[in-house]
Amino acid sequence: MMDFKLVDKEHDEARQGEALVIENNNAISTKKLYIESYGCQMNFADSEIVASILSETGYATTNNYQEADVVFINTCSIRDNAEQRVRNRLSQFGIEKKKNPGLVIGVLGCMAERLKAKFLEEEKLVDVVVGPDAYRDLPQLLADAGEGNKAVNVLLSREETYADINPVRLNSNGITAFISIMRGCDNMCSFCVVPFTRGRERSRDPHSIIKEAELLFEQGYREVTLLGQNVDSYKWGEGEDHVNFAGLLEKTALIHPDLRVRFSTSHPKDITDEVLYTIAKYENICNYIHLPVQSGNNRILELMNRTYTREWYMNRIDAIRRIIPGCAISSDIIAGFCSETEEEHQDTLSMMDYARYNFAYTFSYSERPGTLAARKLKDDVPEEVKSRRLAEIFKKQQEDSHKCLLEFVGKSVKVLIEGYSKKSDKEYRGRNDQNAMVVFPISDKVKPGDYVYVNIEKCTSATLIGTIVNN
Ligand code: 5AD
Ligand code: SF4
Repeated sequence: MMDFKLVDKEHDEARQGEALVIENNNAISTKKLYIESYGCQMNFADSEIVASILSETGYATTNNYQEADVVFINTCSIRDNAEQRVRNRLSQFGIEKKKNPGLVIGVLGCMAERLKAKFLEEEKLVDVVVGPDAYRDLPQLLADAGEGNKAVNVLLSREETYADINPVRLNSNGITAFISIMRGCDNMCSFCVVPFTRGRERSRDPHSIIKEAELLFEQGYREVTLLGQNVDSYKWGEGEDHVNFAGLLEKTALIHPDLRVRFSTSHPKDITDEVLYTIAKYENICNYIHLPVQSGNNRILELMNRTYTREWYMNRIDAIRRIIPGCAISSDIIAGFCSETEEEHQDTLSMMDYARYNFAYTFSYSERPGTLAARKLKDDVPEEVKSRRLAEIFKKQQEDSHKCLLEFVGKSVKVLIEGYSKKSDKEYRGRNDQNAMVVFPISDKVKPGDYVYVNIEKCTSATLIGTIVNN
């Protein structure tokens, strides 16, 4: 039995640590591993790869770090507060290490890559520092640490995609899963640390992606989310064998009509009409696009190095509305980027009016060491101005999200049942095509993994509430 605890998520749908049961083929497990993940969906997917690599070498895992031989923390560097959370958590592990000096503590992921060996100086309790492209080296690094040595591997790779590794599904509901289709990012948005921590962009072999999705479907999964920092620049092969993101989406959709396909993240500069027509063509590709705008002002977009304008972004919104009527759109928005004026902030609010987002993740700008913005621009918007602008953006989004949900009231929507609702085992929860959460009373005629039509009777600010349509 292997248990994993995954806590927190930069993007807010928390996946908290339910127990995980997987087969451990290795009969003799002598060591226990505890792993915790922070940050984006990609990091959670990476922890599933780490679990797979270590299960091969016989590590049994535990959901109690106090009984672990090895504690891993898979970290996020995207904003300063994400790093602070990790540091606080490390100091709690430090208390455990005082009691049990043999305990090995490892830092994985973006913070490991950003701080490298410096981490060992700054946090004396850390024994192992491993960047996102070096997880195959973990068994060796742990062996070194077991002999009392500090171990570091933060080499980034141009090829590594872990294509051949079948991830262990952590914290799984058995219905929905993430599939990593590419790694890294070549975009160099000036605020973003990701190109430095996750390296150059590279796509994964489509055969291995389709094989993974087919296997998931055979195991009873009914939804896959294809993950990449910029899925629209997915590319594989040359000439007749060339596969772009539209092609990959189509191949995944063709696996089975009952397998829902989602994807994230789309980049406004790269999303093509071909991708939009592919979404429109296949019923099982969900009508939902995460299309981060970051700012609605052209000067700020240029400073951010986003390489599109407000007008270009609006044109992409128009194309989505024309080609996929009813498609849900969500966004990421940063408040108070370097030198942003009040008028420029108003442009972000008016962009929100134009796009009418179903949902948005909103952030206050946080300067990250080493980024283009940190080197070239001044983080000069006062904290209280950032917070006020963020609050205005957040409030508008709450109103827009509620309006979008109200549009479903009185309608019947198709829902994939994912499990019981968080509050009650008398209710199921699932999402509709547009990614809205739907809660409804259970029925003994259906179970998780089934599709049902639900009549929507009312909504809260974040959830649709209804009853199953009898047919
Ligand atoms: N400060 C604030 N938000 C940021 N993001 C990325 N870097 C920063 C930063 N330095 C946000 C962007 C991105 C999302 C994942 O995180 O909006 O799309
Ligand atoms: Fe960061 Fe921009 Fe790449 Fe997204 S597209 S990961 S914001 S550099």
